[in-house]
Amino acid sequence: MSNPVRARITGVGHFLPEERVTNADLEKLVDTNDEWITTRTGIKERRILRDPEKATSYMASEAAKEALAHAGVDASEVDAILVATVTPDYLFPATAALVQKNIGAGKAFGFDISAACSGFLYALSTGAMMIESGRLRKVLVIGADKMSSILDYTDRATCIIFGDGAGAVLLEPSTDGRGMVDFLQVTEGDDQQLLCQIAGGSRNPATHETVDNKWHYIRQDGKTVFKKATEAMADISAAIMERNGLTGDDVAWLVPHQANLRIIAATANRMGLSMDKVMVNIEKYGNTTAATIPLCLYDWRNKLQAGDNIVLSAFGGGFTAGAIYIKW
Ligand code: UT7
Repeated sequence: MSNPVRARITGVGHFLPEERVTNADLEKLVDTNDEWITTRTGIKERRILRDPEKATSYMASEAAKEALAHAGVDASEVDAILVATVTPDYLFPATAALVQKNIGAGKAFGFDISAACSGFLYALSTGAMMIESGRLRKVLVIGADKMSSILDYTDRATCIIFGDGAGAVLLEPSTDGRGMVDFLQVTEGDDQQLLCQIAGGSRNPATHETVDNKWHYIRQDGKTVFKKATEAMADISAAIMERNGLTGDDVAWLVPHQANLRIIAATANRMGLSMDKVMVNIEKYGNTTAATIPLCLYDWRNKLQAGDNIVLSAFGGGFTAGAIYIKW
């Protein structure tokens, strides 16, 4: 009997703006210091897309082009483009539509997925199911966020955490056992506004008042979100391992969302993994929201071996959480 069709990642790409903002740079803006940021989060610097002419679709397109080149696939062959983001260029049209035009993916349809820091995983599982169905053969999945566009650089509780960036993967069918094996996703609706941007949508359209009140910026109750994130990421990662009969010894890499080094360490600990099996680049890029996981895959692309068991794991606003088990 032949293997089931799985969606395999055949190309990985990235985009990072050149401008680096260090903890020392932020010390000039808010009452903070390198020691606090490093010990509480693990972050040393983050990238910022300063050019006002460029937004999320630009970064997403650059990452997509690199993923296609890596896979040796022409943009004209792409069937679908999924962009996970909370910082779309516009509320509509979708960022995916802008990417489709930018990269010349003439026959592709596309749409955006909004699931905050879990967005890339939700998009990846959606793209993988499109491939598994047999209907599509080449699906681009992109995580991209220009977090600097919704950050209040007078709020030390949020501006130190986030950065800008994009990562992309190409999914293609595989019947050799490699590809996405399983996924778990949960959404726990949060009506307390613990992690959100409350204006700019239909509830609070832009007015002078919403701007004056800084409602177009991200807001977060860090302590509460930290507690929830630590529990949820560890729980969902342990659950996907259990469901697939995996122990810590079986897992080659954990690819965690990069929100806080302490959350990542707690997840690894629960999975029975030492930190040398955990992809961590938070010190260089901070939390790039939907881009953290594909940026890890990009940075580690030459270390991944065919057949490696890898677990991707995330938690974010919504609240959303997800884990994906991939045989690389
Ligand atoms: O990616 C989506 C999901 N997001 C997350 O997972 C983020 C989860 N939250 C976190 O990572 C952490 O809660 C933060 C990094 C945001 C904050 O770390 P914390 O250890 O939870 O700090 P805290 O909020 O409990 O604040 C401790 C102290 C407070 O001072 P007092 O009240 O003890 O005097 C804060 O005012 O640190 C103060 N503080 C700061 N001090 C220097 C808060 N922000 C800063 C800062 N620099 N940037």
